[in-house]
Amino acid sequence: MQVLTTIESLQGLLKGWRSDNQTVSLVPTMGGLHEGHLSLVRMANNNSDKTLVSIYLNPTQFGKGEDFDSYPRTIDADLGALENCQADAVFVPETEQMYPDGWSFDYEVGDIGKILCGITRPHFFKGVAQAVYRLLEIVEPEIAVFGQKDYQQLFIIKKMLRDMSLGVQILSHSTVRESDGLAMSTRNNYLSSKERAIAPELFRILERAREGYLSSKTVESLRVDIHKSINQHFELEYAEIIDANNLKQITDNTTEIAILCAVSLGPTRLIDNIFFWR
Ligand code: PAF
Repeated sequence: MQVLTTIESLQGLLKGWRSDNQTVSLVPTMGGLHEGHLSLVRMANNNSDKTLVSIYLNPTQFGKGEDFDSYPRTIDADLGALENCQADAVFVPETEQMYPDGWSFDYEVGDIGKILCGITRPHFFKGVAQAVYRLLEIVEPEIAVFGQKDYQQLFIIKKMLRDMSLGVQILSHSTVRESDGLAMSTRNNYLSSKERAIAPELFRILERAREGYLSSKTVESLRVDIHKSINQHFELEYAEIIDANNLKQITDNTTEIAILCAVSLGPTRLIDNIFFWR
């Protein structure tokens, strides 16, 4: 497995792959890898000839007072896990490579970035879009792979590719969970043992809401139930039951429902979601 830190060396490698007619999947990450990330790598391995993973802790998607400084930096363990997972190469750029002087990005994420996670993190989706766009520009992969835990992020990335007519195929992998249901996340490392014992309740609340919906409870009463249950264990940021295909209110035309939420547990922010056919 090759580890590259410059665009020049990466593009040399990509040129060799291309001349052998090899297709390339990109798996963008910020490091702090866990089984959820590795499932994206396996998905990439299964869908293209070569898998390139990027590790870049993107400062532009963190706001003031957020956890950029304390975010886990575990490069040695990450590289070991990627080697075991048979990634072909890892791109670990510095910021000068990602955002060189003179490079600009003016895509407007728009209203879709102002709802849900965008309410408390107004800078977030623009930063994500910037990093993903830049990586796609550098790598020009056939496929890029993302996790469904960050459902709004996935939605916005797909929209950006459509808006910009970028011909990259997006694959997404379902959320990987611990055996007690907690969605895997790099930020789970912040949980104390007491908080870690409480955290799986979030997924149980989402599962109960799904059952409630399927047994004909109204969206409004479910919303009240979810908020009440979340407030017993967590500090609620948002919990919404919406149309999975457009992130808007459910209508008669809705075919797939998403329940998306973000909460705080002590200093740790957790997000999770569940989606299902109507
Ligand atoms: O999901 C993440 O890890 C990041 O938001 C991403 C997509 C790598 C962009 O920095």
